[in-house]
Amino acid sequence: MTTLPNHNPTQLAAWKALKKQFDEQKETTILDLFESETDRQAKCTVIWEDFYVDYSKNRLSEKTLALLLDLAAQAELPRAIEAYFTGARINVTEDRAVLHTALRSDGKEPISVGDHNVIPDVNAVKEEMYVFAEKIISGAWKGYTGKAIDTIVNIGIGGSDLGPAMVTEALEFYGNHLTPYFVSNVEGDHHKELLKKIDPETTLFLVVSKTFTTQETLANATSIRQWFLTSAPESAIAQHFVAVSTNLEKIKAFGIAADNVFPMNDWVGGRFSLWSTVGLSICLAVGPKHFEELLEGAGAMDRHFRHSPAEQNIPTLLALISIWYNNFWGAESEAIVPYTQYLRNLPAYLQQGIMESNGKGVDRNGQPIDYQTGTIIWGASGTNAQHAFFQLIHQGTKLIPTDFIGFKESLHDTGDHQEKLISNLIAQTEALMCGKTEKTVREELKKNDLSPKTIDQLTPFKVFSGNRPTNTLLINKLTPYNLGALIALYEHKIFVQGVLWNIYSYDQWGVELGKQLANSVLSDLQNEKINQHDPSTTALINRYKKH
Ligand code: F6P
Repeated sequence: MTTLPNHNPTQLAAWKALKKQFDEQKETTILDLFESETDRQAKCTVIWEDFYVDYSKNRLSEKTLALLLDLAAQAELPRAIEAYFTGARINVTEDRAVLHTALRSDGKEPISVGDHNVIPDVNAVKEEMYVFAEKIISGAWKGYTGKAIDTIVNIGIGGSDLGPAMVTEALEFYGNHLTPYFVSNVEGDHHKELLKKIDPETTLFLVVSKTFTTQETLANATSIRQWFLTSAPESAIAQHFVAVSTNLEKIKAFGIAADNVFPMNDWVGGRFSLWSTVGLSICLAVGPKHFEELLEGAGAMDRHFRHSPAEQNIPTLLALISIWYNNFWGAESEAIVPYTQYLRNLPAYLQQGIMESNGKGVDRNGQPIDYQTGTIIWGASGTNAQHAFFQLIHQGTKLIPTDFIGFKESLHDTGDHQEKLISNLIAQTEALMCGKTEKTVREELKKNDLSPKTIDQLTPFKVFSGNRPTNTLLINKLTPYNLGALIALYEHKIFVQGVLWNIYSYDQWGVELGKQLANSVLSDLQNEKINQHDPSTTALINRYKKH
């Protein structure tokens, strides 16, 4: 049934060799590696377009890296990559291809699902989206009282919210006069707060749901439509509501005109869909030109990933390093720290991408697995994060490999703020690797005229063990193109890890369960009679109903 290679990674020779390598190398520090390996810094840096990726500050010797690359080869990663890019149905449990890459392809070669080349359709839908966006941005499209649109509200959740919201925020600098808002949570207070701020006469609502069956999105869209109709006539729906979905029938039932529907394909997964019509809010907020640049950047990263040898391949290298920590060092989580407020929601966005994709405990044969898969992702923007959770990364008991992402240039003229910002980034990676020895601590304390007893007491608390791993991604500038490439990089890292862990990365049955359960409990909350549950659940339901 599989269209991907199918190997238990722990049975591969390279995995066994890596276990041995771990035992032999575990006492060697990153600083030791810098001493023993000539040219380590240059060898562990990949420069690609505007990206400078330094992975030298890792507990990763030349030999370890060679074994990780062997692992990728033995797991037949190149064959998997070809299957991914050429429309094989690698989302086996949903019997679908995985082709978000087709949405940003340069169109030079056909990409087929079955025997249908999807590129002409992709281009036609994109063109429709761009024409529509231009009408809204230029003011040619009027609201029901003849005023131009100045506000857009994206109603969606999960992949139909996180990607568009994160990118719109990240590209705020490139934004136009339209004010974008995002409503996701089914909690009614979320949209009620928004409704206080917007004017129905000048607002366009985008109802975005791949399936058009998601409780949160349908509940929010229905309530917002009711609110809209308290001041506007029914006929005004056509000027103020558009939909993005694969489910054209359900959209019709909801009352959105066929002309206002932007279709998407089932071969685009929700968490990989910002490149499709799901990205309509991005396209409106920054305009088609910048949206196109976002796609181009992602397309360039796709080609880098598909065609570069593994040892020069940024997504592959980052995926392998992460596997090294996850499966051999026992690291439970990874932090992502972008040094810009524009990307403050990148960690939250990547949580869905990474954890919904690779949080799986059954392999491609349907068998439970006995090795670790999906990493836990967390993070926040730097330097804020330094004043929040960096203490634990520096001196805590847990191993937390961290990606530092920074940009050489700021977008505004900001005096010396950028130097201050990036000096923090660089200094943190240095400190995490080098730590601070007892000798240095004592010398520093001596300079403060402290008694020998006080120095003895304080020293252990001020020592930093160091040897804490980081990757640094230093990118020239936060442009739509570079942002597209950065997101695509992490998408491909997810893919590589899924291939090596022998799991299916493109379904999300765990989340579907939540959707089913919520409906069953909802009927208990709304009706007299309660279904059978465990005692704790029954008590919670009764407690809620008593208010
Ligand atoms: O959260 C689960 C999920 O299925 C995601 O994969 C998806 O992005 C989200 O729900 C929203 O789904 P839809 O776009 O169909 O409303």
